[in-house]
Amino acid sequence: MNKLGIYIHIPFCVKKCNYCAFLSFKMDDKLKRKYIDAIKIEIKERADSGYLVDTIFFGGGTPSLLEPSEIGEILNEVTSKFNVFKDAEITIEANPTTLNIEKLKGYRKIGINRLSMGVQSLDENLLGIMGRTHSVADVYREYDLARKAGFDNINLDIIFAVPTGKFETLMDTLTKIIELNPEHVSYYSLQLEEGTPFFEDFKDGKLNEIPDDMDREMYHKGSKLLESNNYSRYEISNFSKNGYECRHNLKYWNMDEYLGLGLGSSSYIGGFRLKNTDDINKYLKNKYISERYKNTKHDDISEAVFTGLRKTEGISMSEILGTTEEFWEYYKNSKDEIYRFINEGYLSINEDRLILTDKGIDISNKIMACFV
Ligand SMILES: C[S@@+](CC[C@H](N)C(=O)[O-])C[C@H]1O[C@@H](n2cnc3c(N)ncnc32)[C@H](O)[C@@H]1O
Ligand code: SF4
Repeated sequence: MNKLGIYIHIPFCVKKCNYCAFLSFKMDDKLKRKYIDAIKIEIKERADSGYLVDTIFFGGGTPSLLEPSEIGEILNEVTSKFNVFKDAEITIEANPTTLNIEKLKGYRKIGINRLSMGVQSLDENLLGIMGRTHSVADVYREYDLARKAGFDNINLDIIFAVPTGKFETLMDTLTKIIELNPEHVSYYSLQLEEGTPFFEDFKDGKLNEIPDDMDREMYHKGSKLLESNNYSRYEISNFSKNGYECRHNLKYWNMDEYLGLGLGSSSYIGGFRLKNTDDINKYLKNKYISERYKNTKHDDISEAVFTGLRKTEGISMSEILGTTEEFWEYYKNSKDEIYRFINEGYLSINEDRLILTDKGIDISNKIMACFV
């Protein structure tokens, strides 16, 4: 039976952070209720007994604004309509200040076994600049509660290259994160997203972007610190202890099938890329799918290359195109350029595998363009 990951989008946040362009907004109890009912209908209508669901990911937004009983309702609908593997990885994203011990125990009880908490920084001043609604103390308190509630698979998200952020402050945050000892760390470079307060402030000259060379130094020194403390980098921005790689997110980089449910979510299933509507009114009327695109063979090949290259293990050319020779035949027009990257140390080649080097990560977009 084919495996499937299920992503469920919860588009609610207490307040938008200054950098974030993810689809989310404020909620009230009435809207929350309607949304949960609409998701349950979507689950029923898109149910498929031909798959074995081995990962479920509640992402946001802030899924932890939903009570365990509400997440449980959605999860029950999934388990009653799909075949869910008994050891499925089930993740919930959570913001500090939304958690307490009863809630955390409740999540554990309904089967959530992985918690992903957005920390971003352990510097009070940077949290303020980012527009976060929590303090450093909130992170420590709720992380500790999560351990007490029995979570033994926790991810913490960190963002670097935040304006005004100093290199020393970042290293201090990472050192404290390592002391907290989570199983997984996501370490993201700040992306300047159109429509966010940060974007406007950069445009108006009220905030200065961290220069590229500083961003890269923060990435490489931060990575080294994590790696020397037993966190292996398995993807450009993701680090974990042995055996704690996020099985759900790996599906995106492995071109495995996943079904996205909820407002604005995306799916890759049965050779199709599907996109759900971003319009809450349409969604609540159960008109959820807005785009449907059948991947061509070329789409599948190029996407497998550039998502796969994000992984530390890189890609197997023969897995993608049958044999290494066929891979080079397929990319014969870009072969010289690809070999230039290999000879200049941006890509490494190891028999059947192509891997981005540390230097290559810094210009990954340029390299990936060869495979489009
Ligand atoms: C979908 S968000 C949900 C997390 C949760 N709502 C929170 O903020 O605690 C997942 C993560 O994406 C990252 N993120 C969001 N916007 C970003 C941006 N513009 N640049 C880099 N990372 C970003 C943050 O680290 C965030 O924790
Ligand atoms: S970072 Fe998290 S809390 Fe902040 S706006 Fe984005 S989804 Fe909401």
